[in-house]
Amino acid sequence: MASRSCLLYAFLVLFLLAFEPTSRVKATDIPPPSCRRVVGSSAELIQFGMNFLLSQAEFFNCAATGEGINVIAPDLVQGGPVSIGCTRANLNNVTRAIFAELGFLSVGLIRFILQASRLINPIPVPQIDISTVTLGGFANAAFGANLRPPFNIYANTINILPGSAAFLSLTRQYYIGISPYIVGDELQAVVSSIVSAQSAAFGVIRTLQYQNENVTMVSYNFNIATYVDRLAQLINRLAMCGDKDEGLKLQFQFGTTTNIIPFTPNVTAASRTALELLRVFYGTGNASLPGAIFPQGVNGRIAEKIVNLKLN
Ligand SMILES: *[C@@H]1O[C@H](CO)[C@@H](O)[C@H](O)[C@H]1NC(C)=O
Ligand SMILES: *[C@@H]1O[C@H](CO)[C@@H](O)[C@H](O)[C@H]1NC(C)=O
Ligand SMILES: *[C@@H]1O[C@H](CO)[C@@H](O)[C@H](O)[C@H]1NC(C)=O
Ligand SMILES: *[C@@H]1O[C@H](CO)[C@@H](O)[C@H](O)[C@H]1NC(C)=O
Repeated sequence: MASRSCLLYAFLVLFLLAFEPTSRVKATDIPPPSCRRVVGSSAELIQFGMNFLLSQAEFFNCAATGEGINVIAPDLVQGGPVSIGCTRANLNNVTRAIFAELGFLSVGLIRFILQASRLINPIPVPQIDISTVTLGGFANAAFGANLRPPFNIYANTINILPGSAAFLSLTRQYYIGISPYIVGDELQAVVSSIVSAQSAAFGVIRTLQYQNENVTMVSYNFNIATYVDRLAQLINRLAMCGDKDEGLKLQFQFGTTTNIIPFTPNVTAASRTALELLRVFYGTGNASLPGAIFPQGVNGRIAEKIVNLKLN
């Protein structure tokens, strides 16, 4: 019985392949194994992204108020550990208000996901490390040198912008990436809500960055535009699947143009896979080697699959 349905399946695949216009599928269109998506059910794919939404919620709430998920939304902890390095940032009033809203929005998105469908199981909060030293490590890696004095992301309104945009951008790219594979009206609506919220939030932070692009970062000899650029290059290097993050300006033969909202040349939004996100959040360029923001790794069915299959 099983072999008969296998045969039928094989026949169907062959039949479909026979009618696939071969000229449209080039070998170069198929991504290398390291850049392929990790397959899972719609609910599992959405669940996996909650790891990143949780880290985002922790980061924005801590920066705005000094209080993390365990205080603000204890119902979302699910037995996970308290984060490392929760810090109230030294922000001006406008930026603090924006960060408070984004923290609130992040918590709201996670609650919305869990309430939207009983197919999506909660996950324990992974160990999250948003300490000055850990996030400063990304700044060092971006410049390929140990910054002196050590980079303190929470020191002022300028220092915090590039890293906070990265949290929003990566999670946005993950949900864009899974959206073609989501089955069912309810779950599709969940993903489009997340993508739209992440996109709006990312646009707000990019605007703040652009307004301050020429501001020299305190204690260093570079401005914020340079840092945004270097951080984008670091993220592209760690993720290892192409140049998807970009700086605030694009150079052309006849001049430069603003690049507040990055798009591909065809105005499609860049997407990233589960493995790309882990390589960046772990800071190791290896989806099976936890570190940095998730020193104990992440949770959920897709996370287990990545560990079991040793995907890196
Ligand atoms: C910022 O907010 C604090 C507390 O609400 C207030 O005391 C202060 O005057 C505000 N500063 C500015 C520059 O608006
Ligand atoms: C930053 O400086 C450049 C060069 O002087 C200028 O063209 C640009 O408009 C400035 N950006 C902002 C946001 O003021
Ligand atoms: C953009 O669209 C054109 C026309 O459909 C296509 O030939 C080209 O490969 C696309 N470029 C990218 C980067 O997707
Ligand atoms: C990634 O990390 C795992 C776990 O430490 C290790 O077994 C594997 O060899 C690493 N992969 C690469 C490409 O370095």
